[in-house]
Amino acid sequence: MRSWNTIMVSGGAGFVGGNFIRHILGKKEFAGRVINVDALSHTGNPLSLRDVEDAHGTKRYVFERADIRDRSAMDRILNTYGVECIVHFAAESRIDSSAFTTSDFITTNINGTLTLLQAARAWWEGRREGLFHHVSTAGVYGSTEAHELISEDSPYNPSAPYVASKAASDHLARAWFRTYGTPVTISNASRNYGPYHFPEELIPLIITNALSEKALPVFGRKDDTRDWLYVTDHAEAIWRILTRGRIGESYNISGENALKNTELVQHISRVLARATNRQEKDFASLITFVEDGAESPLRSTLGCDKIKKELSWKQAFNLDQGLEATVRWYLDNQAWVEEIRSGEYLRWIEKNFSKRKERKLL
Ligand SMILES: NC(=O)c1ccc[n+]([C@@H]2O[C@H](COP(=O)([O-])OP(=O)(O)OC[C@H]3O[C@@H](n4cnc5c(N)ncnc54)[C@H](O)[C@@H]3O)[C@@H](O)[C@H]2O)c1
Repeated sequence: MRSWNTIMVSGGAGFVGGNFIRHILGKKEFAGRVINVDALSHTGNPLSLRDVEDAHGTKRYVFERADIRDRSAMDRILNTYGVECIVHFAAESRIDSSAFTTSDFITTNINGTLTLLQAARAWWEGRREGLFHHVSTAGVYGSTEAHELISEDSPYNPSAPYVASKAASDHLARAWFRTYGTPVTISNASRNYGPYHFPEELIPLIITNALSEKALPVFGRKDDTRDWLYVTDHAEAIWRILTRGRIGESYNISGENALKNTELVQHISRVLARATNRQEKDFASLITFVEDGAESPLRSTLGCDKIKKELSWKQAFNLDQGLEATVRWYLDNQAWVEEIRSGEYLRWIEKNFSKRKERKLL
């Protein structure tokens, strides 16, 4: 089993990276330090980790506002903190807008990953061997037939620009391992849900709109089938890869919860009704499907036998447990939702990250 003293997390102010930081700082087996490197683009919210900063201080958690496309910033950070392991989450991740703002998807997801791989390779040369873990999505495999199960050997078949850019970055990470021997691992996970998810994403949007009795728009076809993974199950799977995964390998991470959109919404309505002592039909009546014109329903059924067998990982949350925990979290953290919706966090970033103050927060 590998152990790490200093882990750099790129994109740790985002949804999955932030949950990952929280998860590993709470683990008995990890006594080291996390360096969160994030450019704070529109989905990065450093306020989500305020309590982590308060609880652990800079001995265990440091925030660096930096762009992964900036090679000299990456060199400086790796060097300053003596980074041993990089967990690379930073990405332009919004699938829906990817068709309209393609250049950021390319420059961050592809060029940014390339810059980080180059910096890691140079930094680890002649030093104790590190690990570069590249966090990717199951979307790279594209849509499948209903009976087909995706495995790590399935061909890549991305559709949207976002997933195409993630596929390209997976190939780059793999090429750095094969060509230069850079120690790389990759994971491809299905859709995540859980705490600290931007309120405009499907599951939090349904929960937060339902709580304020607004219409519940579900984009896509009723029959679109997706797999949902609770975000801390994802975090634990990545931890297992960092500590026990085979170098050069890819691992799929799935909730094994492939559901049609209609079924997902029914589940959420049931959980919301239980959590608020109301009737399921109160919520079900608010749902409106907004079809997006796709020609055939999207399906993806991601198999994850490899990580289960090799690394003894399994999901701790089934869908109902995960949704229950998520609904509870949004009920208890409405101030966080307000902060995002009002743009308060963006004003906070402006105020605290002017050039003059940038270094002071480190
Ligand atoms: N959310 C999911 O369902 C899911 C599923 C599988 C894989 N993933 C992968 O996990 C990663 C994180 O996804 P997420 O949903 O948390 O996204 P997110 O948008 O919430 O977080 C991305 C973070 O990256 C930061 N960032 C963007 N551009 C940057 C740059 N140039 N330099 C430094 N930081 C930058 C943003 O500020 C943000 O904090 C992505 O790589 C994504 O492909 C996500």
